[in-house]
Amino acid sequence: MIEFQNVTLSYGNNGVLTRVSFKAQFHERIAILGGSGEGKTTILRLMLGLVRPDEGKILIGGRDITELSESELKDIRMKFSIVFQEGALFDSMNVKENVAFCFREYANYSEDQIEERVRELLRTLGIENAVYLMPEELSGGMQRRVAIARSLAGCKPNMMLYDEPTSGLDPLTAENICKLIKELSKGGPPDRMGFIIVTHKVTDAAKVAERFLYIRNGSIIFDGNITELKKTNDAELRNFINELYVAEQCS
Ligand SMILES: Nc1ncnc2c1ncn2[C@@H]1O[C@H](COP(=O)(O)OP(=O)(O)O)[C@@H](O)[C@H]1O
Ligand SMILES: [Mg+2]
Repeated sequence: MIEFQNVTLSYGNNGVLTRVSFKAQFHERIAILGGSGEGKTTILRLMLGLVRPDEGKILIGGRDITELSESELKDIRMKFSIVFQEGALFDSMNVKENVAFCFREYANYSEDQIEERVRELLRTLGIENAVYLMPEELSGGMQRRVAIARSLAGCKPNMMLYDEPTSGLDPLTAENICKLIKELSKGGPPDRMGFIIVTHKVTDAAKVAERFLYIRNGSIIFDGNITELKKTNDAELRNFINELYVAEQCS
């Protein structure tokens, strides 16, 4: 369980979040929606203890992480794998080395074991052929897949965190990444690996998530499922999700 209790955060004079509260289970499939600069990425960073709130508590698996030391936070971070915005890869390393990086950092594997695990992951993500390519040789969609493979390599997370995983991709590639996100979270609760996807692309969110949070001016102003989302009376939110209605008319 993840629980934000009245979390308030500013960067200097810039107030980002004001008394934000929500609860989520690790197996849920959640989208955090909102315009640029509304604090979506900040919420993920708070969950990992990469920033600390000015006020409020953040409970992960029952522990308040706002008071934990860096070494205690390691256990918390192992519960999540994050794919950062743009999925930046190490330019000077090939795909295998990019993915193997976490094995080398965190696990005591032989070279053969590393090779086997990397290939297995790449196979799962449908990019086994790319094993010896350099990042610059990959398409945008393949780069995103490698970034996902790399984040999965570190540990077996309870939950994936995706920060704008489809930004900058053409619609077809974005659709394939959405499929992958769903596949990686297959199965039923409570055992499945859930995810939080942070995005301003509402149609992509609608393809993968079951619960939607919308954040504006530092507060969560909507929390519900797709049916409730489409029925919202909030004019700005209706405007934000306009693409959903358009997509419906086209289909
Ligand atoms: N490290 C930082 N230092 C100062 N301001 C920041 C920092 N990170 C983000 N911000 C500011 O906080 C606000 C929220 O940022 P962010 O969480 O990245 O929004 P989003 O992901 O929704 O686009 C923005 O106004 C951004 O400029
Ligand atoms: Mg962001």
